[in-house]
Amino acid sequence: MGSSVLRAALSAVFSASLSVLFLQPLPVRSLTSYANDFVDPAFILAKNFSNVTVEAQATIVQWAQDLASQGPWSVTNKSVTPPSGDKHDYMSWAPYSWPDCSKAGNTTELTPEQIWTTCPYVTKDGQFNPDGRLINDVGEFGDLSDAVLYNALAWALDGNAVYSSNVAKFVNTWFVDPATSMNPNLNYAQLARGPNGQIGQHTGVLDLKCMSKLVSGVLILREGKAAEWTSDIDTQLTNWTNSYIDWLTTAKIALEEEAATNNHGSFYYNQLAALQILVGDKDGAKQTIEKYFTGIYMNQIAANGDQPLESARTRPYHYRAYNLAAMITNAKLGQYVGYDAWNLTTSKGTTIKSALDYAITQQAGDEAASELWPNVVAVGAIYGDDGGKYAQFMLKNAGSTYPEDAQFLWNQPFSDSGLVKGAAGNNSTSGSKNNGATGTDPSVGTVPDNGASAIRSCWTVLAAAGVTAISLILS
Ligand SMILES: *[C@@H]1O[C@H](CO)[C@@H](O)[C@H](O)[C@H]1NC(C)=O
Ligand SMILES: *[C@@H]1O[C@H](CO)[C@@H](O)[C@H](O)[C@H]1NC(C)=O
Ligand SMILES: *[C@@H]1O[C@H](CO)[C@@H](O)[C@H](O)[C@H]1NC(C)=O
Ligand SMILES: *[C@@H]1O[C@H](CO)[C@@H](O)[C@H](O)[C@H]1NC(C)=O
Ligand SMILES: *[C@@H]1O[C@H](CO)[C@@H](O)[C@H](O)[C@H]1NC(C)=O
Ligand SMILES: *[C@@H]1O[C@H](CO)[C@@H](O)[C@H](O)[C@H]1NC(C)=O
Ligand SMILES: *[C@@H]1O[C@H](CO)[C@@H](O)[C@H](O)[C@H]1NC(C)=O
Ligand SMILES: *[C@@H]1O[C@H](CO)[C@@H](O)[C@H](O)[C@H]1NC(C)=O
Repeated sequence: MGSSVLRAALSAVFSASLSVLFLQPLPVRSLTSYANDFVDPAFILAKNFSNVTVEAQATIVQWAQDLASQGPWSVTNKSVTPPSGDKHDYMSWAPYSWPDCSKAGNTTELTPEQIWTTCPYVTKDGQFNPDGRLINDVGEFGDLSDAVLYNALAWALDGNAVYSSNVAKFVNTWFVDPATSMNPNLNYAQLARGPNGQIGQHTGVLDLKCMSKLVSGVLILREGKAAEWTSDIDTQLTNWTNSYIDWLTTAKIALEEEAATNNHGSFYYNQLAALQILVGDKDGAKQTIEKYFTGIYMNQIAANGDQPLESARTRPYHYRAYNLAAMITNAKLGQYVGYDAWNLTTSKGTTIKSALDYAITQQAGDEAASELWPNVVAVGAIYGDDGGKYAQFMLKNAGSTYPEDAQFLWNQPFSDSGLVKGAAGNNSTSGSKNNGATGTDPSVGTVPDNGASAIRSCWTVLAAAGVTAISLILS
């Protein structure tokens, strides 16, 4: 969407309550899909937002519209049929798996379908097999979870029923409508191909980790009593989720994923706790979060704040940021159900803050530095920013547009470094205004929103997860 069209659209939908936005230039910021998050619906519905978040609010509305224009999404859209013969089954392929047809015994060229079932597949660590994109259930679910979150937030910000209708339509298409709904299992996620394959792997459970974003959006509409979020759709989504929770807590590959000690395990708990909250089982969610923090969390952060299970991988900067997002999401979910994990220490006496403090001292190399930024703001908001080191990190690395980032709305209080015009700003924890910033390109933190090449974390991180998965298998 061109920026002038976007501004016109924004003008048309904004209510007077957000008119403060038009006192300043609107940001035009392309979508960043965070690795994961959970947003407390009560905080959003109270609408007691700091003035430093006005630009983040505009970003959220823009992202809601951008995403909505791409939906709805459905597992039945894929052109490949899962081994069950039922396109309603969710499916993805192991990302670094390649066919070796040299001993397949064929006398002529094989069709793609013959290759998938007759050639043995071998793992080439870190090399993404591009044919994985023939099936995009993982990318579609990533877009769905972002679309639900941002459209629910946009509804809360300005009350326009277009956004709540979008959420209802997208949820109905993916989960409820018999013509397009997903069966409540991940039996064919990160499928291993080849003659002995055709079964899903535990690493594929990660594909739906962004359920906690989707649940955040649904809770906003449910607790905000949006008229378009009907009791009918709520009941049917809850019914689906109960069936899926059964799968997630009993299927062999789901339990293998729960047992993973690294980010895979952390994200499993994100997903399960969020879904338990969705179905009204807050006690179950609390037990889930407690199991994480008294279980695998204990060995995830070393004495110096490093995360040894992540930094041993091929892309340590990415993996530290990635598991931090999962840990932070688990702690936010815990906070929501009355389990305070922020100050819980690991067996090495460290906290989530220790992990962040270590991660910000590391170089990104050729990895995407922007992955860490939402974690920096979240940790600064929760633990405070004495001396303003987190705000200074953001100014130096994310650049002068960091208060435009969507997560700046819900990770508060956090200093805007005096950057948001008319905010009656908050310089108490920041260093200085942008004058001293070291000129990082502000666009670095964003991703071009140009369809196919746009980065979607629930998609790219699948590839990243593959590295972990393969490392686990090889180690
Ligand atoms: C609104 O937020 C401010 C800043 O966090 C806080 O001081 C104030 O108590 C809040 N107001 C209400 C009604 O919750
Ligand atoms: C995916 O499926 C939904 C529901 O059938 C449909 O509305 C949508 O257009 C499809 N999207 C694509 C890209 O095919
Ligand atoms: C067997 O199939 C593979 C994959 O299509 C192809 O590369 C190879 O040339 C085929 N072998 C023969 C002998 O045709
Ligand atoms: C509840 O979900 C199950 C499994 O998804 C489905 O078979 C059943 O039809 C649903 N029932 C209702 C009342 O929606
Ligand atoms: C952590 O504990 C300290 C000391 O009891 C307390 O002041 C602080 O608020 C706690 N932080 C969080 C995030 O709970
Ligand atoms: C936000 O801005 C309004 C209008 O400029 C002002 O009245 C209000 O005090 C500000 N609130 C805060 C928390 O700075
Ligand atoms: C924030 O700090 C800058 C310089 O450090 C100053 O120019 C600006 O007026 C301050 N903003 C507010 C609202 O105090
Ligand atoms: C300013 O920062 C302080 C301390 O972090 C916080 O309590 C307050 O709510 C912030 N005010 C605004 C308007 O962000």
